[in-house]
Amino acid sequence: MERCRGEHSVDVPVPPLTRNVKGRIRLPGSHEGRWPVDEWKRVLHGDRVTQDRMARGFAGTRPVVVVRVGEQLRAFRDRCPHAGAPLSGGDLSDGRVRCPRHGWSFDVSGGTCAAHPDYSLRLLEVRERDGWIEVLDPEVF
Ligand code: FES
Repeated sequence: MERCRGEHSVDVPVPPLTRNVKGRIRLPGSHEGRWPVDEWKRVLHGDRVTQDRMARGFAGTRPVVVVRVGEQLRAFRDRCPHAGAPLSGGDLSDGRVRCPRHGWSFDVSGGTCAAHPDYSLRLLEVRERDGWIEVLDPEVF
């Protein structure tokens, strides 16, 4: 009987590894750190989101800020992309949210920071259904 000495190579397709937002490897087929793609999460009741004021809620356990600017809703994580300060503690004026820690301003319509273009808010898909604000973004959560 002949024994295998490991000299054979077998071409087995290996799916590419992906990383989650924390840089950890996400196993193929795993939903670790993600929601199912089409699952909307309730954040807070629409009555709490008044014109030109930030409202903080939670999508699951993740803090989210919701803003109503004109007829538009905007939602983003309650975490500054610079150093992680909670943006809900900052100010909102002229469609810009000002971070309480270092004072950078982010446009809530596009998420951009004019002074630091490498940093921007990650805007979440948001909708209002049956009076509730819901968000969807499987890549962030
Ligand atoms: S933590 Fe927000 S600007 Fe630095």
